[in-house]
Amino acid sequence: MSALAAALQPYRYLWPREDLAGAGWQRTAAGAWERALPESREMLAADSRWPALFPSPVCLVTAADGATVVLERVVGPSIVNRFPYVLALSFCVEPLSGRHYARRAFTSVLEAGGAVAVQFLVPGPLLDRALAAIETTPEPETAARVARSGLPTRRALSSAAPVFTDAYLVYEGRLVRPGRDLDGEPIYARPWLDVGSHRVFFLEITAIQLRRDIAEGRSQIHWRSLPVWSPQLPAPPAGGQEAVWPGAGYQKGYTPHYAFPSAGTIAFEADDVAGGMAVKHLPPEVADQVEVDNDRARWPCFFPSSVGLITTWAADDRPNLMPCGSTTVLSRHPLVITPCVGYAAINERYAPRLTLELIRKNRAFGCGVPFISDQVVAAIKYAGNVSMQAAGDKVARAGLAVEGGGPAPVLTDLPVHFDCEVLDEVRLGTHVMFLGAVRRIRLRPDVSAANPLEWCPWADVRPADG
Ligand SMILES: Cc1cc2nc3c(=O)[nH]c(=O)nc-3n(C[C@H](O)[C@H](O)[C@H](O)COP(=O)(O)O)c2cc1C
Repeated sequence: MSALAAALQPYRYLWPREDLAGAGWQRTAAGAWERALPESREMLAADSRWPALFPSPVCLVTAADGATVVLERVVGPSIVNRFPYVLALSFCVEPLSGRHYARRAFTSVLEAGGAVAVQFLVPGPLLDRALAAIETTPEPETAARVARSGLPTRRALSSAAPVFTDAYLVYEGRLVRPGRDLDGEPIYARPWLDVGSHRVFFLEITAIQLRRDIAEGRSQIHWRSLPVWSPQLPAPPAGGQEAVWPGAGYQKGYTPHYAFPSAGTIAFEADDVAGGMAVKHLPPEVADQVEVDNDRARWPCFFPSSVGLITTWAADDRPNLMPCGSTTVLSRHPLVITPCVGYAAINERYAPRLTLELIRKNRAFGCGVPFISDQVVAAIKYAGNVSMQAAGDKVARAGLAVEGGGPAPVLTDLPVHFDCEVLDEVRLGTHVMFLGAVRRIRLRPDVSAANPLEWCPWADVRPADG
């Protein structure tokens, strides 16, 4: 059930790959691994890979400014706000290491052209050609990458950005314009934000293109949204999950084995068909985008995301937990994790979260990395539908164990935990993005190179199930 599809095997990512001892990690008395951040510049220059796994998707991004077309591979693209429908992409702009170098050739074209095409190719030879063109072409020659890939392109519908003819899914976006949220507060005074070593661009989605056979249900996108991992320690007897869900009206489903389209997903409502792609245009004005109906307010199409389990302390040291699909890593130095938490009261799906208040009050949150297990998936469903306002002992009722003592509760059933200190928050329209600098990472004792987490950042496309 959890085995990675054959087509995805070459893209499999295992973490950790090396022995943790000696790699900056310390053992605690209880046998867990801990690592303090940020690292020194010297440590980063020697190795700037992420110090622990956060499950992030990867996409290809193109932009154009009239004279030049540029191509990049971006880790952790994330839908961060619902109305307006905004995607965040972050690019390293500060040289940290051979891996993390400044992407100025790309970002200057994006800033001049003001638009991008975020694209996904089916794992296989064509994706490999695009990735090889990126990897083998140094940043100053970014403009040669599209041609070097040898892949045919056409123009995006809403900008001059090139779109790979073979892309099965394309999100077209433009730098977001300044506006006001539903409370009349100003948002997006600038369409980008400098966060540590990275510049984060906020892109308002203008159009979504989906391969016609997928839009019509003949093929499906398969996305495994959580890592696979095998706990090796005997689990303390879990209380099990509550059958009763207090206060949960509309229920948001969740499966880490996501197939789109399928019975549980929204239908892609195309406006037209062009070049083998079904196309949905998003209304240019936010007011025209707002959907109050819980189902219609869902994301209009598949976009790959994982989920961070965001923990906070409430009054009387009671732990809270909020599963957050809009969680990503936006900067490497410091390492910044950003959950986007709903603040606008639109419907049951989009309503102010207690977690919003708690993060603001504590100036800290925890982010646990979930994995595929019946217990963890059941906990995500419970905690993602029941507010602590209705269920005081929410974490226990979700069936998870907690350890205290730190700035945020640690969910001891999960392999990886990040303790984050809030540097700032950004109001995005319906969601607040918290910028959380990671101060400490904690791993369970049974996370090791011999028992790593397995992740794949790409989705697969296959003929629809029977
Ligand atoms: C898979 C999943 C992903 C979710 N992602 C988000 C998100 O990105 N942002 C958000 O504000 N709520 C998200 N939610 C909803 C919250 O987890 C939910 O409203 C929760 O009950 C809030 O808890 P609280 O009120 O105790 O803070 C998600 C729910 C699920 C099941």
